[in-house]
Amino acid sequence: MKKSPLEILNVYRERVNSRLEYYLTSICSDGSYQSELKGVMNYSLLAGGKRFRPILTYTVADMYGVDISKVDSSACAIELIHIYSLIHDDLPAMDDDDMRHNQPSCHKKFGDAQAILAGDGLQALAFEVISSDESISHSIRVDLLKLLAVSAYDMADGQSIDLSVVSKEVDIAILNQIHQKKTASLISCAVKFGALLNPNISLKDLDILDSYSNHIGLAYQVQDDVLDITSTEEVLGKRQNSDLNKAKPTYPALLGVDESIKVYKNLYKEALEEITSLSIKNQPLRELTEKLMGRSF
Ligand code: IPE
Ligand code: IPE
Ligand code: MG
Ligand code: MG
Ligand code: MG
Repeated sequence: MKKSPLEILNVYRERVNSRLEYYLTSICSDGSYQSELKGVMNYSLLAGGKRFRPILTYTVADMYGVDISKVDSSACAIELIHIYSLIHDDLPAMDDDDMRHNQPSCHKKFGDAQAILAGDGLQALAFEVISSDESISHSIRVDLLKLLAVSAYDMADGQSIDLSVVSKEVDIAILNQIHQKKTASLISCAVKFGALLNPNISLKDLDILDSYSNHIGLAYQVQDDVLDITSTEEVLGKRQNSDLNKAKPTYPALLGVDESIKVYKNLYKEALEEITSLSIKNQPLRELTEKLMGRSF
């Protein structure tokens, strides 16, 4: 029987959860003194989260006929980088947030040093997971690794700018640049991973997916900033009004909530329009994009 879009989402979510657990437990250990690092990484990696980035990778790869067993490493790598970015984002030196995924944030539980190291470890593991996936050709592996490296750098660069403008007045153009780097870069990487796994992907489709993913990436952060105000702590799994309390420049701070909702909905609509030009049937990606547009956390 054909699976509903919701069932497919759950299949991907469960799959990435079990593969992440597998990759984490298979980190080699030489039998010498055991640090607590793996346990700290485990705490944040397996705490939950929507897993939208790996779900995007699985969805796009499936649309291009890629066997799911070849997608696991890319799907996990992008989530590993994402979770590392969240652990560091919550640190006192950054957003100083004490809750994440309905539990104390990593540094609250284990201290700053272990949280920093857990982020470092997750980032390293992301590169190991792709580079050692023998089911993918060497040339595709290099393409994936290059894209991951550039995207992870852009995320860090975006976070750096984000922190440098706290309590400052910035315009929408600068805000867009920050969001593009800190958030859209990893979302775009997730989408392109799915396409690059097919060696016959056309440049035209890659271009369309590049633009599509930048639009949903920007929308995703504007929406996150709106949800920071409109969703409760229980629903978010993290503190409400975190941005306001830290005087972060955001879309809602600049334009108000209603206008910001219009902005992100229009960005998603633009993205939906773009994928109608793909060479393949876009229905799964359309349904997922609509799901993203309607999320409440
Ligand atoms: C939160 O991302 C940080 C942003 C870049 C907006 P998610 O909302 O996707 O994080 P999860 O689902 O809790 O992992
Ligand atoms: C985070 O943006 C972007 C990252 C690269 C982690 P936020 O700081 O708004 O994310 P949350 O709200 O803490 O999840
Ligand atoms: Mg932040
Ligand atoms: Mg934050
Ligand atoms: Mg936020």
